[in-house]
Amino acid sequence: MGADIVIGAQWGDEGKGKLTDILAETADGSIKPNGGGNAGHTVIDETGMEVIFHYLSSAMMRPNIILATGPGSVVNPKCLMNERAAAQNMGLKLDDRFFVDERVSMLMPYHRIQDFVEEWTKSKQGGKIGTTGHGIGPAYTDQANRHTDIMFVDFIKGFEENFFNIAEDKISLFRGKNGVTSDVMKGILQQLTNNQLRDNKSLLEKGLVREEDLDYNKYFDKNSLLNYEIMYEELLRVSEHMKPYLTNTSHLANRLISEGKKIVLEASQGHFLDKIYGTRKFVTSSHPISQGAVLGSGISPMLVDRIFGVVKAYVTRVGAGPFPTKFEDSIAEKIRQIGKEYGATTGRPRDCGYFDGVMARTAQEINGFTHLAITKLDVLTGMEQIPVCYDYELDGEVLETYPASISDLERVNPIVEIHPGWKEDITSARKYAGLPKNAKRYVDVILEEHQRAYNAQDLKIGFISVGPRRDQVIKMF
Ligand code: GDP
Ligand code: IMO
Ligand code: MG
Repeated sequence: MGADIVIGAQWGDEGKGKLTDILAETADGSIKPNGGGNAGHTVIDETGMEVIFHYLSSAMMRPNIILATGPGSVVNPKCLMNERAAAQNMGLKLDDRFFVDERVSMLMPYHRIQDFVEEWTKSKQGGKIGTTGHGIGPAYTDQANRHTDIMFVDFIKGFEENFFNIAEDKISLFRGKNGVTSDVMKGILQQLTNNQLRDNKSLLEKGLVREEDLDYNKYFDKNSLLNYEIMYEELLRVSEHMKPYLTNTSHLANRLISEGKKIVLEASQGHFLDKIYGTRKFVTSSHPISQGAVLGSGISPMLVDRIFGVVKAYVTRVGAGPFPTKFEDSIAEKIRQIGKEYGATTGRPRDCGYFDGVMARTAQEINGFTHLAITKLDVLTGMEQIPVCYDYELDGEVLETYPASISDLERVNPIVEIHPGWKEDITSARKYAGLPKNAKRYVDVILEEHQRAYNAQDLKIGFISVGPRRDQVIKMF
């Protein structure tokens, strides 16, 4: 026993939530090692009940499993508490099995405002990232900066002093800089409020949360200055609810592993959103790769059993940044409709493209997947010709590696071969042998493209997902 890691092999939304839920059936614990409110992971059980998880692990629908938010995550305490309340309201039980690591960096309302302000400023200058607006970049920046970081353990010790020292600095952040007038700020706060109302609709309807609790306008006074007194009081209230869940989750996970238990590390985002190895600058601010999963959960690499690369049978991307294998609009729209390619966190339409072998072997080489979980194969049913990119060509040369330069990546020409599609409905297939010949061949191509990476000869397919429900899967074990 030990740890299994779930990693998105592309730009996120590959189906990590579904795989985590499947692995959780036979696991004892689950940790979220990175990211925060930017993640949106969908689990749909056999009855069709759908839950979208952000801060909470997708393993949660399995009773008895221990759930932890690992030290590498950044967490907005109020959003976490609201998500917890929404889950409980759906009948999911959390008591005695849910923990937050005391080293987790706290994501404050001002981080979300900062994220919006930065995106607004960049959109005027060109080059916005298209973030999820959850404050991820500013929160991880404060962690790296050290002076402006607040950990969850600070709820217990020294919170007031820490918070006010930092807030004093933050107050000047939003004032009149880069054309951020008080009208612009009002617009931003209203948009954040609207997002909050949208994200907490079910809690509002049931009267479990009040509209004023979700209002961002209250954080600024009439002079458009940050009202950190209000923020502090609110955080203090939330902190009382949070205290019982705080612990050292890496110690907990290591203990479980030493007792012979299995832990699933559910990474958020995907390889190409990694802040070092992704398509910089159009990335997130954490490490959604296998190395990031052990870092963010405090588990030694020696304790890892399996590393699952979750690979969508095609590719999607949400937010800005280059996308070499993007489909032409009419095909992308068709895939978007069939695959329901709209963001689980923001509802934004996802761009769609064809399978990219260069991405595949790049992610394979760095993450060292031991198994692939191929998802959404059913979405390609009915497509007569399926393009596959094998290599990139740039200035007359076939590239050996994935370009580091974004301007090069924008100019590459994918070298493509067309694969014949299949017409048969595959959503009821539960065995590889039950797939149509061309679907099997396509799955083999995905595997072979990953196996072109160094040291990947032993790579196997672990799962082939053929529909959104947890039972719609071919298990290759
Ligand atoms: P994650 O962020 O990687 O957990 O993925 P998301 O939940 O954001 O997006 C994946 C979407 O695809 C969700 O709507 C899932 O319900 C859905 N999904 C997962 N696997 C399959 C599959 O095999 N077929 C289909 N049609 N949908 C799937
Ligand atoms: P899951 O875990 C897809 C993208 C955003 C943007 C960039 C930076 O559901 O796969 P951020 O808010 O992190 O600063 O945004 O990263 N992004 C995701 N795209 N799935 C996600 O999460 C994402 N989390 C962030 O769209 O391009
Ligand atoms: Mg998602």
